[in-house]
Formats: sequence, C-alpha cells, structure tokens
Amino acid sequence: MESYYVTTPIYYVNDEPHLGHIYTTIAADVLARHQRMASRNVFFLTGVDEHGQKVQQAAETRGIAPIELADQVVARYQSLWPELAITNDDFIRTSSERHKQGVQALWRRLENAGTIYKGFYEDWYCVPCETYWKETQLKEAECWEEKKCPDCERGVDKVQEESYFFRLSAFQDRLIEHINANPDFIGPDSRRNEVLRFVESGLNDLSVSRTTFSWGIPVPGDEKHVIYVWIDALSNYITALGFPDQQMEEHWPANVHLIGKDILRFHAIYWPCMLMAADLPLPKRVFAHGWWTVEGKKMSKSLGNALRPADLLEQYDTDVIRYFLLREVPFGQDGDFSFDALKQRYNSELANDVGNLLNRSLAMLNKYSGGVLGQVSDEENIDRALIADVEGMQMEASRAMDKQAFHIALERINEVVRHGNRYVEENAPWALAKASNTARLDTVLYHLIETLRLVAIQLAPFMPGKMDKMLGQIHGEDADINVLTYAQYGGWGLLKPGHQCSKPTPIFPRMD
Ligand code: MSP
Repeated sequence: MESYYVTTPIYYVNDEPHLGHIYTTIAADVLARHQRMASRNVFFLTGVDEHGQKVQQAAETRGIAPIELADQVVARYQSLWPELAITNDDFIRTSSERHKQGVQALWRRLENAGTIYKGFYEDWYCVPCETYWKETQLKEAECWEEKKCPDCERGVDKVQEESYFFRLSAFQDRLIEHINANPDFIGPDSRRNEVLRFVESGLNDLSVSRTTFSWGIPVPGDEKHVIYVWIDALSNYITALGFPDQQMEEHWPANVHLIGKDILRFHAIYWPCMLMAADLPLPKRVFAHGWWTVEGKKMSKSLGNALRPADLLEQYDTDVIRYFLLREVPFGQDGDFSFDALKQRYNSELANDVGNLLNRSLAMLNKYSGGVLGQVSDEENIDRALIADVEGMQMEASRAMDKQAFHIALERINEVVRHGNRYVEENAPWALAKASNTARLDTVLYHLIETLRLVAIQLAPFMPGKMDKMLGQIHGEDADINVLTYAQYGGWGLLKPGHQCSKPTPIFPRMD
C-alpha cells in the first residue's frame, strides 16, 4: 500500500491552543482521512515543541520547571484533539527520549558530513519569536533604529556567544535547483516564489547551538551547548518515525508538511538543507496556509482575543467548525473568522442545501415507497447528467485534495448538492406520485439517494460525525465512516433495488 505521511507543526507549549493551532491540525486530519479512504497507508503526525528559552522563561515566571509547564499544555492538546475528531497516528514530544536520541544522531550525521563547525556568533535575538536577526535584516525591515523584531515588533537583544554553525550557504545552489526542478515542492505558488527570491539573495551559515540557556537537547560531546530549538523542532518529522534506528522508509519522505506562512523559511530552506547534508530524501511538499484574524482583529496575547477551541466547541458542533474553517477561506490565503459568517455559511450551505436535500429525498422515499429503493428504468438525459456531475465531482474533488485546495473540493461538492435540489424541482416527484408514474418516480428517487450517498462519502473527511449519521440514514449501520474506502463505496449504483433507507432525522437543523 502506498504511504501517505502528513504532518502539522509541533506547537509551542508556552501558549494555550487557539484557532491557529486547530486550523492546521484540522486540515491535516481532513487530508489524513481522505488518504485513508483512498486506501493509502497513512501516517499522521502532530505534537509539541517543548524546548527553548521562551518555554524556560515562561516556566520560571510561573515558578515551575519547564517540564511541568510542558506536561500541563500537552494534557490540553491531548484532550483537545479527540474533541475535534483528530485522528493523529502519533504525538511527538520533543522532551521524549526517542526524540532526543534522534536529534543527537542527526547532529552527528551533520558533523560527520563536515557541515557543522564551531565559531563565534553575534546577532540580534527576539525571545518571543525565537528568531535571530542579522543587522542587515533589521535594517532592511526598518527595525534597526528601534532595535525591534521585524515579525512581532517587540524588542530584540544583542547576543554574542560561542556557537556551532551549520553550513547552510553550501546548499544554496542545490536548493535552488531542487525548487526549480520540483514545482510542487512549495505551495501555494506565491510562497514558492517568495522562498526562491530569499534563497537567491544568498544564504548565511546558521548558528545552531546556544550556551545561554539549558532547556534543550545537549550537543553531543559538548554539553554546555544546547541544540538550537529549530533544529530540534524540525527533526521531529523523522524522529517520530524512529530515526535513526528504525527503518524510516515506510513513511519517509513526508508527502506534505502543513504549516503556517510564518514558519515557511524554516521548513522550505533550513529543513531541506539539513536533510541534504544528512543525505536523506526531502519532503515532497511544504504547504503554507494563511493567518486568521478574529472579527477583523489580529489575535494577540496583549489584546487577549485569541479564539480558544473550548469557546468554539461550547457553541458549535465539531464538524461545523471543521467545515467552516476549510470552506470559508481558500487554503493558503489569510482570512477573517466571524461568528456571523459561520452562521451564514452553515444555514445556506449545510442546513438549506445538504440538509434540505437529504430530508426531502428521504421523506419522499418514505412517503411514496416505505423507504425502499425501487428499480431504475429508462434513464433519461437529466438522470445521466446528474450521474456525470457526481462522477466529475469525485474526480475533481480528489484532485483538489491532492493540492490541499480544500475550498475547491468543498465548492465542487456543493455544486452537486445544488444540482440535486434542482433535480428535485425539475422532476417533481410529488407530481409523478400523483400521476401514479411509479416507474419514473422510483428512478428519480434512486438517483437522489445515490447522489446523497456519494456526497456524504466525499464530505466524510471534513465532517466525519455528521456524515456518519447521514450515511447511517441511507446505508444503515454497516457503513463505518472511519474505515470505509472510496474503492468500496465510491461507485455509482452500489445501492440495490429493495434496499431499505431510514426515515429522515435532520442532521443540520437551522441556526437562528
Ligand atoms: N513550534 C513552532 C513550529 C515548529 S514546527 C517544526 C511554532 N509553534 S506555534 O505554536 O507558535 O505555531 C504553530 C502554528 O500555528 C504555526 O504554523 C502558525 O502559523 C500557526 N498560527 C499561529 N497563529 C495563527 C493564526 N492567527 N492563524 C493561522 N495560523 C496561525 O511556530
């Protein structure tokens, strides 16, 4: 079975989970579920990033050890993921022994390859962002006068320390070649150009160890240095697979690293160069999504307006949240979260379109034939057009999913739903019943139910709970949403005449 390996960033433990964190993880889950349904051998990884000065300081402020702080936040994440129907196969903690072993092994590989050297380091450091800035970068960003971080605009500090360096500069040409030879390596396309321009402007060697704090993984053989948190963090994608001891080949290289746009440089430049240096294959794709604002405002700790998953889950069903986040904003672009927009989309697309088509179709089937599917006879053009639309939707949605274009997949599925509602109007089953045209009535109802069934299967990765209920009403109990595949269930005509469907139970009641 072909492997499909999808990852999320590992989340810092000095902050509580918020909208930004659940966004990537939901997207990764939708991909993982879709690929499982496409019969791939999926490995879906998420986890937490526990080391670094920021976490050490946050723990000190609270008067606890860094690992205690990490344990608390880990518990939050681990109880949150099931609530959002997240089906990760593993959860990596960077404080774990398996991770530490893997990172140190990678370090030794980089050293043996001659890509690490000791030097002296002078730079500007932003503690909240854990990012080092060169004087030239601060000047370019017009942050030099005020000595502030170009990303978060908070103050940067001058640091000078003995440090190990990674020969990033040595990989500049190979990376440019790789990006040019692999158009899918970085998505969306606009990000790809951004990375290319950055690499072409010249890569400096990277300082990859610190002596100014201790909460991290020691450099093998020189324990007063800890390994730079980004080297530590990025390695999670292979340490979770058992690097270096276990065979990684089953899942490596990853099919896609899903990340936010702010951490693209780390994933599309540093990480690939490290992998080249270690003579390991590069991930097939790095996809950077955009950022959410909430009701028009940037989420920030100082404003205290970060949208917490618990607040969302209190008001909305998990599946509705999942649907909205991937439907509202084209994946890759920035967008705004608002409760009004959520309600509007829910009412128009889920309650009015999908919910209505399901309810009216099942209601008519129950009214006119006791919920039992009849024979299809004399298929007409209007029927064939519906089937062709469903089959076209399956192909196009699947292609969109391969490019992480969730919004396009959903829009295409919704088109079929609207087609289904039109088909009801055009065929007016109530008139066929009145005229006792049973043959035509049976044919029309059959096409409606099959359309709904295949819509439910296509929507299953997005809304597993709701679609399980929907399929339950159509199929009966035997179709388990968590294990069914497109190959088994995705073909038109699976339901046979004589099949009994349930009475409709609304799954998307209107929201007021
Ligand atoms: N620990 C690093 C990642 C290491 S991966 C090897 C990190 N952690 S983070 O917790 O700060 O952020 C994780 C993700 O949340 C990032 O991908 C970031 O883009 C995302 N988001 C944070 N705020 C966000 C929004 N407002 N909107 C969308 N995503 C945002 O970075």
